[in-house]
Order: sequence, then structure tokens, then C-alpha cells
Amino acid sequence: MSEPKKLFVKTYGCQMNVYDSERMAEALGSEGYEQVGTAEEADMILLNTCHIREKAAEKVYSELGRMRPLREANPDLKIGVAGCVAQAEGEEIMNRQPMVDLVVGPQTYHRLPEMARKVEAGEKALDTDFPEEDKFAHLPKARKPKRGPTAFLTVQEGCDKFCAFCVVPYTRGAEVSRPADRLLREANELVERGVREITLLGQNVNAYHGQGDGGEWGLAKLIREMAKVDGLERIRFTTSHPNDMEDDLIAAHGDCEKLMPYLHLPVQSGSDKILKAMNRKHTAEEYIRLIERIRAARPDLLLSGDFIVGFPGETEADFQATMDLVETVGYGQAYSFKYSSRPGTPAAEKPPVDDATSSERLQRLQALLSKQQYAVQDSMVGREVQVLFEKDGRLPGQLIGKSEYLHAVHALAPQNLKGEIAKVRIVESAKNSLKGELI
Ligand code: SAH
Ligand code: SF4
Ligand code: F3S
Repeated sequence: MSEPKKLFVKTYGCQMNVYDSERMAEALGSEGYEQVGTAEEADMILLNTCHIREKAAEKVYSELGRMRPLREANPDLKIGVAGCVAQAEGEEIMNRQPMVDLVVGPQTYHRLPEMARKVEAGEKALDTDFPEEDKFAHLPKARKPKRGPTAFLTVQEGCDKFCAFCVVPYTRGAEVSRPADRLLREANELVERGVREITLLGQNVNAYHGQGDGGEWGLAKLIREMAKVDGLERIRFTTSHPNDMEDDLIAAHGDCEKLMPYLHLPVQSGSDKILKAMNRKHTAEEYIRLIERIRAARPDLLLSGDFIVGFPGETEADFQATMDLVETVGYGQAYSFKYSSRPGTPAAEKPPVDDATSSERLQRLQALLSKQQYAVQDSMVGREVQVLFEKDGRLPGQLIGKSEYLHAVHALAPQNLKGEIAKVRIVESAKNSLKGELI
């Protein structure tokens, strides 16, 4: 047998890209590629990219620039761009950076094996279709080794919401849900390989409506059925849209033991005027009422969110409404971004808020969100949590893992607890992790 060819994949953007990168590596595995940890040793480099904000998209070109010396040292090195920048810019990437051999969108990477053969023969390969066939059903069957205790599982892709600022409906296409039986099979396979916690992924995961036994299943039904998989201990899902939070999914937070008490539910703004301009199709009040209902089902829920400041037309009063909403709701964790104008989206047509104002608002919002985050972390001290230990910690004898609330927790613990869930008392709260003691 010939030497395995070496593949280096670098992933940007959301968890769906993390999932896709694993699938791409498996697809190329069937062509004799083995994954390596650095670009220097690779025969092929794949950048799995993100287009969500300008900075994210520009990263790709600076990364490609850094790869030029590698290509000069090894003219046989193949370089590919995958993901959402590939979808949005297509051939333009090869024009701007001629050393790129391959461009593949998020919906066509099951075709990577033939594309790899093409580039190995010295040709260029480009595929940014939205094909009819389901890529997941067309991926080559790969050998599946043991793996860590947590995994992502994409159940839904694409978005029909068309928020005025967002590229996702254009880069990922329309909403599609995967059939439930395949997902249950994949969950079983993951558990056999050592997985204890699965995070169900979708750009709009709670809009899931896949074909299941006896008709269409919503996300709650899928979660309840997956919870029956023996050996699977924890289920999470992300990212959700407030308008798709159906009653049964809210109820599941109260009565499905394996569903973890953590919910990422972005609101983006607290101003009704801005929410309308963003095409979010709900008001701040409706969001607050929704959170109350979910917390009634699961009082200890840790809530996470996304915010955009400086959306076109945002006044100081609009921004203050966002601050007020954050004060009212209370987040354990959150992401906040300065609005980034994306070509082709409706909001890009409107005059922007000046950069200094946006930066200053972002600082104020982040100060408030951090304060809330640390208050929640501090409130964990003295409490007992269940930690799924994933890997060695920084200090000898330490393991690190996640609590139900997705807090990183480290504790002195024996190696045989790696991949297991153990009861831990939190004794200290630090910036990025909690310190615990085994009970
Ligand atoms: N489907 C998810 C995630 C979308 S992208 C959702 O609807 O929540 C993740 C986050 O990036 C968004 O929630 C939003 O806060 C942010 N985002 C998207 N487009 C952006 C833009 N043009 N500028 C700044 N932030 C943006
Ligand atoms: Fe983008 Fe809105 Fe769709 Fe989320 S719901 S992916 S923010 S268009
Ligand atoms: Fe980025 Fe595409 Fe995900 S734009 S956030 S990688 S869906």
C-alpha cells in the first residue's frame, strides 16, 4: 500500500462547520488521506471558512497569504477553500488567490473525493451547487475510530428567515431537515464510539421537521426519541430562533432528563423598531414572555444569546432598549457583535451607524454581559454539579469537562473518569472556568 496522503483541515465559524470538517476528512479518507495536525506536513490543506462578518471572511485571505511559502517549498501541495466563503465567492477566490486549487461549498463536499482526484491531476476543481441529493446520504462510508465523549450532530441545515443582516440563507440555502431514522442511527454509532453527549446542530435547529416514524417529527420528538438511546447521557441543541420555540420543546426542558438546562436563544436587539428592521418578526416583549415560559418549565436554565449593536438606524434609545432587555432577562453567557455590513443582504443598502458609536455601545453591552456571566459563575460556588470529564486539565492529576450548564470545570480526578460523568462540588469561580472537588 502507498503512503497515506496527509490532510490538514482548518475550521472557522460555527459548530456546523466543525461537524462538516469531520465529514470532509472522512470523505477524503476514502481517497487515502489521513488527517494531520499542522499545515507544514500536509499534502492538502482545506480551509473550512465562515462568511458571517467581514472580519471572518477576510481571515481566509490572510491565511492563504501565510500559506504561500508552504506552496513555494512544495509545488505539489494542494490548497482548497470550503464552507461559506467558498459558497459566497466561488470562482472569485481563485481569481484573487491563484494558488487555490479547489473551491467547494457547504452542500457539495460529498463530491470531494472526485474533486481531489482532479486537483491531483493538476486541474482546478470548483463546485458550489445546491444539489438535489442529500450530501449526508452520499458520503463514503468511513472507518469510525473511538472518539471523545462529546460530539456534534447536524440535524437541520439552512435558513428561511432572511434576517436583514445575515448571509446564512444565501450561503447555506433553504431549510432542510435530515430524516429521523438516520439521525438516530448516527447517534447510536456515536455512542458506540464513546460519545456521552450529543449537541444537535442546525442554523435554525428548532425549526427541525424531519421525516420520522408515523410522519413529520419536530425537534422535541427527535430529542425525546434520542433520549432513549442507551449510553447517551446528555443532549443539547443549537442554534434556535425565538419564533420556532414550540410548546413541546419548552415542555421537554422540564420533563426530558437528558436535555441539559442550557439554551442559546439569540434576540439580537431589545428595540422593537430595530427588531422590525432586522426582520426578526417578534418584539422584545414577546421574547421576554417566551423566556418566562421556558424558565417556568426549567427554573435553573442557563440562558445564552447573541446581540448585534450598531445595526443601521440604531439610536441611543434603541441601544438602551437592548441594555434594558439584558437587565430584565439575565444571561449566563452571550456573544455580542458590532454590525458588519454584508454584500447582498438588505441591510447593506442602509446608511451605517458610525464606527466609534458602535464600538462604544459594544463596550457597554459587553461590560454588562460579562458582569452577568461572572455573577452566574460565582453563584455556582458551593453547588453540586455533574461534570462530563473530557480531557486532561492544565495541572497534573487534573481533568477538565463541562457541567450541565456548559461551564468548564476542572478538578483533581483519576484518569478513569475521562469520558464519564461525576458529581463535583464547585469551590472557586475564575474567569474562564470553575474549580471543583469530586464528591
Ligand atoms: N442561526 C443562528 C446563528 C446565525 S450567525 C441564529 O439565527 O441565531 C450567529 C450570530 O452572528 C447571529 O446570531 C448574529 O448575532 C451574528 N451575526 C450574523 N450576521 C451578522 C452581521 N452581519 N454583523 C454582525 N453580526 C452578525
Ligand atoms: Fe441568519 Fe436570521 Fe437565519 Fe439566524 S435566523 S441564520 S441570523 S437569517
Ligand atoms: Fe459562518 Fe457559515 Fe456558520 S457563515 S457562522 S460558517 S453557517
